[in-house]
Amino acid sequence: MSTHTPGTPKAVTAPDCLAAKAQGRKLVVVTAYDYPSAQLLDEAGVDILLVGDSLGMVVQGHPHSLTVTLDEMIYHTKLVARGSRRSLIVTDMPFMTYQVSPQQALENAGRIIQQGGAHAVKLEGGVRTAAAIAVITQADIPVMGHIGLTPQSIHSFGGFKVQRAEEQLLADAQAVVEAGAFAVVVEGVPAELGAKVTAAIPIPTIGIGAGKNCDGQVLVFHDLFQYGLGRRPKFVKSYAHLNQAIQQGTKAFIDEVREGKFPAEEHQYSS
Ligand code: KIV
Repeated sequence: MSTHTPGTPKAVTAPDCLAAKAQGRKLVVVTAYDYPSAQLLDEAGVDILLVGDSLGMVVQGHPHSLTVTLDEMIYHTKLVARGSRRSLIVTDMPFMTYQVSPQQALENAGRIIQQGGAHAVKLEGGVRTAAAIAVITQADIPVMGHIGLTPQSIHSFGGFKVQRAEEQLLADAQAVVEAGAFAVVVEGVPAELGAKVTAAIPIPTIGIGAGKNCDGQVLVFHDLFQYGLGRRPKFVKSYAHLNQAIQQGTKAFIDEVREGKFPAEEHQYSS
């Protein structure tokens, strides 16, 4: 379980994230799915570790996130919680774990906090999810909203498509605020719309493909560090190249094993 305790020096809390907007401090969010990546991101100073259901794609190899289960999210949250000391851990509620009823949403949010060790949950949808967000926040579980291109809606959107409906986006943002969320991910909208939503609401917007005026930015770990051979969306900038490092390292290992150079003397036990 996490050694992160709210109130301990430097531990990031949901109220800290809310306050960041008033202070003009940008929030940095990265997805994490396991212990070592959580350790590295946490130590580097990331504000929020998001255990995203994007793990369905980047970890499990599915074409979308719809098949990810609550038990899988709880499992990955436990790994991340073990690696994190300071960052706030937010876990995605997967498809069909909150849409049935607010009661269902509350019970499943509770499992993510109690069994996984997350500090907050994230739900996709604005107006249509507001009742679930309200019930969860009333139980003192912080909620991050997620509006715009909500990946769990790909079948109704007809794919991963940029969302341009301004009125809908502003109504969703308002609904998430009124339901008590402490922050909201805004995904896949034109930059001008990202700026408009950010100016319209009092809680921080965390952009992903939503332009530079959001109150913070989130990227998927595998995109940020070029890990895995999947296609990268236009909005991604990679800050390191793990594929290259892993492929070069693997080739060197293959060569040395085949040439009898590894293991060398220093890698062997003596009798
Ligand atoms: O599932 C996820 O990783 C997400 C982020 C991309 C915002 O929701």
